[in-house]
Amino acid sequence: MSRALFTAAVLLGTSLSLAAPALANTAYDGVWLFDDTPPTPGVTMMQVTSKGGKIEGTVTTQWYGPVEMLNPHVTDGALKFDTRNINDREHPTRPWSVAIEGGKAHLKGRIWESEVDASGYRGKAKDAQAHAFKFSAPLPALGAPIPSKLAATPPMGWSSWNKFAEHIDDKTVRAMADAMVSTGLRDAGFLYVNIDDGWQGKRDANGVLQPNEKFPDMKALTDYVHSRGLKIGIYSSQGPRTCAGYEGSYGHVRQDAQTYADWGFDYLKYDLCSGEWFYDDADTVKRSYYEMGAALQATGRDFIFSLCEYGRFDVGSWGRDVGGQLWRTTGDITDDYPTMAKIGFDKNGKPEWAGPHGFNDPDMLEIGNGGMSADEYRTHMTLWAMSAAPLMMGHDLRETSPETLAMLTNPRVIAVDQDAKGVQAKALRKQGTMEVWAKPLADGRVALALFNRGDAAGSLALTPGDAGLTAVTQVEDVWSGAKSAKLPASYTVPARGAVMVVVGG
Ligand code: GLA
Repeated sequence: MSRALFTAAVLLGTSLSLAAPALANTAYDGVWLFDDTPPTPGVTMMQVTSKGGKIEGTVTTQWYGPVEMLNPHVTDGALKFDTRNINDREHPTRPWSVAIEGGKAHLKGRIWESEVDASGYRGKAKDAQAHAFKFSAPLPALGAPIPSKLAATPPMGWSSWNKFAEHIDDKTVRAMADAMVSTGLRDAGFLYVNIDDGWQGKRDANGVLQPNEKFPDMKALTDYVHSRGLKIGIYSSQGPRTCAGYEGSYGHVRQDAQTYADWGFDYLKYDLCSGEWFYDDADTVKRSYYEMGAALQATGRDFIFSLCEYGRFDVGSWGRDVGGQLWRTTGDITDDYPTMAKIGFDKNGKPEWAGPHGFNDPDMLEIGNGGMSADEYRTHMTLWAMSAAPLMMGHDLRETSPETLAMLTNPRVIAVDQDAKGVQAKALRKQGTMEVWAKPLADGRVALALFNRGDAAGSLALTPGDAGLTAVTQVEDVWSGAKSAKLPASYTVPARGAVMVVVGG
C-alpha cells in the first residue's frame, strides 16, 4: 500500500481495523496493546491482519503515529518486517520481529535512536479505537510571508538544554534569571531566559497543554522573569512528541500558541523532532513552521520564533517567510572542540541568508560548561560573534567563573556579534591550519578573525586586502581592547585559538 493510501486509510479508520476472526490465520493477527514503553518511540499498539496469506500491519507509536509494517512475513517462528527509518541515509529501513511467547507478543526493533524490546497483550476492537493515533488536520497552505520587526540583531540569552537537559524546573529558571541580573549578564545584553525541552505535562479535557509538576505556575514564572527586566522563552515541536519524548504541538498548534501567549512567553523554539515523520520534504516542513508562525502572529503577542530543523531544506532561504528570526543550521552542539568546530566552521548556513531580523543559528554556547580549554572557548565565542550567531548561553549561570564572565561579557566581542549590519562572516582564505574570516561592520570598519584549527601554535599575517582596504590605519584588538595604527608583521595564534581585530582604513 502506498504511504498516501495508507495514511488516508488510517485517517478514515478503514484499513487495519480488526479483521473478522474468520480471516485471521496467523498467530499474530489482532490487536496487541503495550503499556508504559519508553516515550521514544512509545509503542502503544500493534495491529496485524492477514488474508489469503497476505499480512498487513502497523505498530502505533507516540513518536511517529502508526508505522506501517513493510514486507511482513512469517519466518523462523516469528513475524518479520521492516519499518521506514527517517533521517538515517545508511539505514532507510530497520528490521523488526514479533514472537508470540506465553500468549504475549514480544516486539523487537529499532527506529530513529530508539530500541524497542517490549511485550504486548491482546486487546479488542474497542481498545484499538481507544489507542488509535489521532491524525491532525492537513497543514494549511502557505500564506503571505509573516513580517517581523523583532531581532534586528541576533537574539541573546540563556537556554536550559545544554546544562540541564530535561532536568529543568521553575526554581532553577528563577535562579537563572536572578544570576543573569547579579552577574551583569543581563546588562551586557543577554535578555532571554529560555526553557527548552522537559517542561510539558499532559493535555486537559479541552486539549490545553499543562506544564508538568516541575512548573507549578507558568504565569507566575513569566511574571517573575519579566520583573527582573528579562524575557522568557518556551519550547515545543510540530510533531506528536518532542525530541526528549514530551507532548508536542501536533494537532494543537493554534491552541498551544495561545497558551504560550496567555502564560506570557516571548520566545518559542520549535523543534521538528518526531514531526520529521509527517513533514519530510521542503514543502511540508516549511508549511509546518508557517502554521506555528501564523498561530503566534494571530495571538497578537510578540514572539521570537526559533526554528529548529537542523538545517534541512536550506532553511535560511525560507526561515523569514514563516516568521522565524533564527533557524538552526546544524545538529546539536556538544561541549567539545571537534563538535563545536565542525558546526561553527563547516556546517553553519549560507551567509547570504543572515541579516537583521533573520540569522543562521549554529546552536547554543557551551562556554562555562568545562569541556573545552580557554583557547577553545575563545574560538567558540569569536566564531559565533563573527558569524552574527544568536548568543544563547548554555551553562549554570550560578557557577559563572570570572574567566567565563569576562569571555561572555566582553563588550567589543558582543558589539561584533550585535553589529547593526547583521553580516555573517565568510572565510576569506585558508593556509595550513589557519583561517582568515572577515565581517564588514555598519560603521565601515571590518572585523577580521584569525583562527588556528591545528594542534600547535601557528603564525600568519593579516593584510589590508583581507578587509578589502588598500591601507589600514586603525587596528583594535577585540579581545584585549589594545589599539594601534597598523597591523603587526604577523600574529601568533595558540593551538585551537583565535585572534580577532577590527580594522579601518
Ligand atoms: C533537539 C534540539 C536540541 C534540544 C533537544 C531537546 O535535539 O536540537 O537543541 O532542544 O532537542 O530535546
